[in-house]
Amino acid sequence: MNDKIMTARNLEKPIVLIGMMGSGKTHFGRLIAQKLGLDFFDSDSLVEEKAGCSVSEIFARWGEQKFRDVEASTIKEHLEKGALVLATGGGAIMNESTADEIFNRSISIWVKADIETILARVSKNSNRPLLAVENPRKVLEELLEKRTPIYKRAMLKLDSAEDRSGAALENILNEIAAHAMTDQA
Ligand code: S3P
Repeated sequence: MNDKIMTARNLEKPIVLIGMMGSGKTHFGRLIAQKLGLDFFDSDSLVEEKAGCSVSEIFARWGEQKFRDVEASTIKEHLEKGALVLATGGGAIMNESTADEIFNRSISIWVKADIETILARVSKNSNRPLLAVENPRKVLEELLEKRTPIYKRAMLKLDSAEDRSGAALENILNEIAAHAMTDQA
């Protein structure tokens, strides 16, 4: 194990991944957690466990706002738990207080992908109610435009198109380690 990974393993803060649907937050989150020996959580799955049904069913039964409320409280609960890796739903940062807590209390990583990559990935999964429309590209473009200024507040950025598991992962682990070192200094 190299020194940087050793240092990152001493982290006391959570690592939180933000970014659009289909950008690769869960994929990279799992890999980061595995490399650092931390537990991995995905806010959508946590909300689904609480509700006992899928994200799509939550939207259909109780509406988006109910989903957003449970999403916000679930993320806050996990920010209290010290070192772990948490992938958040793409819209979670639109809640101002969730965004502030993520940016103040965690090592935040914006997982970035272009619209083409996102569209190709989300078309394989029907559990994204916001895209169950005639023109998902238009919805994605609008969401990306609204959300980008907030995603940009993240401490670190990972370009998911660059590499699914090699260089991009290595770079982000180095950057996490650098932050862990600053925190301990
Ligand atoms: C959403 C993203 C989804 C999920 C919900 C809404 C969004 O999560 O939370 O469908 O508003 O972008 P992923 O980003 O994990 O797909």
